[in-house]
Amino acid sequence: MKISVIGCGYLGAVHAAAMADLGHDVIGIDVDAARVEVLAAGHPPFYEPGLPALLARAGASGRLRFSTDIADAAGASVHFVAVGTPQRSDGNGADLTFLNAAVDALLPHLAPGDLVVGKSTVPVGTAADLLPRIATTGASLAWNPEFLREGHAIADTLIPDRIVYGLVRPADETLLDEVYAGALAADVPKIVTDLATAELVKVAANAFLATKISFINAMAEVAEATGADVTQLADALGHDERIGRRFLGAGLGFGGGCLPKDIRAFMARADELGVDQALGFLGEVDAINNRRRDRLVDVVLEEFGGSVAGRRIAVLGLAFKPDSDDVRDSPALDVAVRLAGLGAEVTATDPQAVQTSLRRHPQLRYATCVGAAVTDAEAVLVLTEWREYRELDPAAVGMLASSKLVVDGRNCLDRDEWVAAGWRYRALGRPAAGPARVAAPALVEA
Ligand code: UGA
Repeated sequence: MKISVIGCGYLGAVHAAAMADLGHDVIGIDVDAARVEVLAAGHPPFYEPGLPALLARAGASGRLRFSTDIADAAGASVHFVAVGTPQRSDGNGADLTFLNAAVDALLPHLAPGDLVVGKSTVPVGTAADLLPRIATTGASLAWNPEFLREGHAIADTLIPDRIVYGLVRPADETLLDEVYAGALAADVPKIVTDLATAELVKVAANAFLATKISFINAMAEVAEATGADVTQLADALGHDERIGRRFLGAGLGFGGGCLPKDIRAFMARADELGVDQALGFLGEVDAINNRRRDRLVDVVLEEFGGSVAGRRIAVLGLAFKPDSDDVRDSPALDVAVRLAGLGAEVTATDPQAVQTSLRRHPQLRYATCVGAAVTDAEAVLVLTEWREYRELDPAAVGMLASSKLVVDGRNCLDRDEWVAAGWRYRALGRPAAGPARVAAPALVEA
């Protein structure tokens, strides 16, 4: 099948490569010439495990090409629209500029019988607004939300948990079944809905995930006030199959290019629809999430007697989550920047996200490895749970640091192991452990 993918960001690039891998003939289109150039050369412009190999395989098959010219979409029978829908700069709603521009640019190249398939995350009602414009060409519109997680994008695209088709023309189901024949043969559940329901499935899923994370982080606040341990609480709750342990990871909370902006856009849309009360709780979800960052900074301040000015602090982890170089709304990077803003001498590192962080915050000091970051540090903060940080040897880190204070921002370290190696251990939602800190004398300005 001939397929075009308009917008080759995270979602589109992975989707285009995956579709080509499944045997389709794919043209990926993006307005960003630099992006198109690197993708065509087989180098993704972001870090995603497995994507370079997938691009290489798809490129070698001759079934995947990239272009900046939307006219190259002509001739495809299915056109996926996968452009970004970021938060508006003047409010909480979604900015649909890229989506409208992509659809308008595509219109002259559509032929009767073509199917435009929206994959971008949009406010409910967007597809209904686009439909009349697309219908003038004789093409049809479907909404087919994407649920891929960064770091697991390829597996999530090839074998997703479910496939949702929001349709206006029942016959389009057959066309989409052809696109997704591989996944359907692997028994991936398919749900066929109208346009509005398909749009809602995506934002409702992200709202639920964000709520689950903020729920456990709210419990962390209660745990901090009572001496309880939120990680044990989550384990115990998670054994209840109705609740489940996934996304009950208490810590610094959610970030990235999706959950934070999606819950805000959802609230903004509910406001427009007059059902703002129904989603009022998402404001609380957002607030709980942001308070975790404040709390982590407070924990560090507590340990240093109220001021971090001049303190040498190592930050391990900058990406919004492991296996990604994405620092959009990253809680880790935010905390690093805040501590530096309070006068701390922060040295930050990340296995993949140093370059992306450097572009946003050139004022921070970066190290290329853990050893360089922790040498002489008075505190070590683990803010993104990369595997190599989870598996750090506390004795080895202790030989390099000047003081054994570790702050586990993701509840990802083996507390007992760190304490046994002589560290004072602090975390969010868990009692402090290890030797009480002998506060270093406050730094006095000469
Ligand atoms: C999220 C959804 O999980 C995907 O299904 C969706 O397709 C995607 O958004 C999107 O809308 O495009 P993603 O942003 O890649 O995917 O990351 P998640 O794995 O959902 O993690 C989001 C954030 O929540 C991260 O900052 C992570 O550290 C945090 N998190 C996750 C927690 O704080 N605790 C947890 O227990 C789990």
